[in-house]
Amino acid sequence: MSMPDAESPVSESPVSESPVSAAPVSTSRDPAKGPDTAAAPIDARLLPPNHDIDASGALRIGGVSVQELAEVYGTPLFIYDEEGIRQRARAFAQWFGARNVTYASKAFACRAMVELVDEEGLSLDVSTGGELDMALRAGFDPARIVLHGNNKSDAEIMTALAAGVGLVVVDSFDEIDRLVRHARSVGTIPAVLVRVNPGVEAHTHDYITTGLADSKFGFGYQNGQASLACEAVSRSNDLHLAGIHAHIGSQVFALDSFARSAEVLVELAADLDRFTEHEMSVLDLGGGLGVNYHAGDDAPSIDRYGTTTVDAFNAALRGGADHGLLGDIRLMIEPGRSLVAPCAITVYRVGTIKDIPGIVRYIAVDGGMSDNLRPSLYQADYEVFDPTRVAAPRPERATIAGKHCEQGDLIVKNAAVPADVSIGDLVATAVTGAYGYSMASNYNKVPRPAVVFVRDGEHRLVIRRETFDDLARLDC
Ligand SMILES: Cc1ncc(COP(=O)(O)O)c(C=O)c1O
Repeated sequence: MSMPDAESPVSESPVSESPVSAAPVSTSRDPAKGPDTAAAPIDARLLPPNHDIDASGALRIGGVSVQELAEVYGTPLFIYDEEGIRQRARAFAQWFGARNVTYASKAFACRAMVELVDEEGLSLDVSTGGELDMALRAGFDPARIVLHGNNKSDAEIMTALAAGVGLVVVDSFDEIDRLVRHARSVGTIPAVLVRVNPGVEAHTHDYITTGLADSKFGFGYQNGQASLACEAVSRSNDLHLAGIHAHIGSQVFALDSFARSAEVLVELAADLDRFTEHEMSVLDLGGGLGVNYHAGDDAPSIDRYGTTTVDAFNAALRGGADHGLLGDIRLMIEPGRSLVAPCAITVYRVGTIKDIPGIVRYIAVDGGMSDNLRPSLYQADYEVFDPTRVAAPRPERATIAGKHCEQGDLIVKNAAVPADVSIGDLVATAVTGAYGYSMASNYNKVPRPAVVFVRDGEHRLVIRRETFDDLARLDC
């Protein structure tokens, strides 16, 4: 396979002979069973990559004391290890080429994050007008923007076309018709990917499974709609069919599911004349790689993901050689969670503690479902620790409750916690860099937290804490 893009070292990647395993996924854990690591301190692998423990046993991230950050910026506070994100970006780029790694901004976005993605040379996935606007305001090169969305508005399509986004991923027949109209009015021929439902089981939570036949996203492969959509795009003189896309779900541990999805993309491509005529070049595997939220988890590394998916593509493409598929194929991916989740923690301050004898101990903190919706949304589970005594054993059990008016506002049920957690202490949840801040809300008129980036002993505020004035600003 020849690779025109110097950034795409796909054909040179190592070939893995090791069998692909389908590891279990840990989107949720039965709280009754408790964490795997009962009583043990938090596993250092769950802390951001560039962390260390100071002489007093307290956590530093990027060379900066977490306690100091909590004092400077207040709590709740999201703390990101900026160098960690960059290291992970480069790890993905080694397999696919930086430009072919499209960061899914829904996982976490703000101007500083978009600038980081830009500096690392990655592309950027936006799925709404708001995400697109943020990218454009930050000066992100439109040619490296991929526009997603299962229900794009006319305004979103027009803005994207006028800005010159690199790829538009179409999701419905109606959208194809509208895209044609808008392309004519803007006077451009957009490059289009068709989003395909490969019908592959991702072995993750139902709410974050997206590649099955009944998904609201994309066109079915098995029912023939994906081929029809490709034909419709390809027939139009106003659109350029650049390739096909699939995203099977999120927090996926089963590498063989990604491999199968890659095969389906190649199978579909082999059936399409446009591919064999080399007019189409992009096969986009979407995002979805899972991360470890618990000490007992065994998420595939970026390297295992890279080797498995690239091998699967290459093997399938070799099989498709008869169909002329060994042309200039560009393999793309769209990691969100796996780029940022392991690089952040959220720090809270304990406000009150309530013991219900024989039933539960609640440790209530100054945040909750407004800064981390995932536990309420799909029973996501986290580990809890005290950032001022990281190596402390966690022999006690308590439920970390938020401050919101919902019984379901429980950040971690039945967590292993250090002994003697007291009012006024700091507690932290690990691996909160994805789908935490980005799903934050103002429920109960709670201002959204601040976000800081730390790197090489320096810290900088990248999203300031909301104020009550911010909350009042939309009132007429
Ligand atoms: C089309 C698409 N690409 C990429 C992603 C990112 O997924 P993840 O954060 O699991 O990598 C998503 C997540 O919903 C998505 O819908």
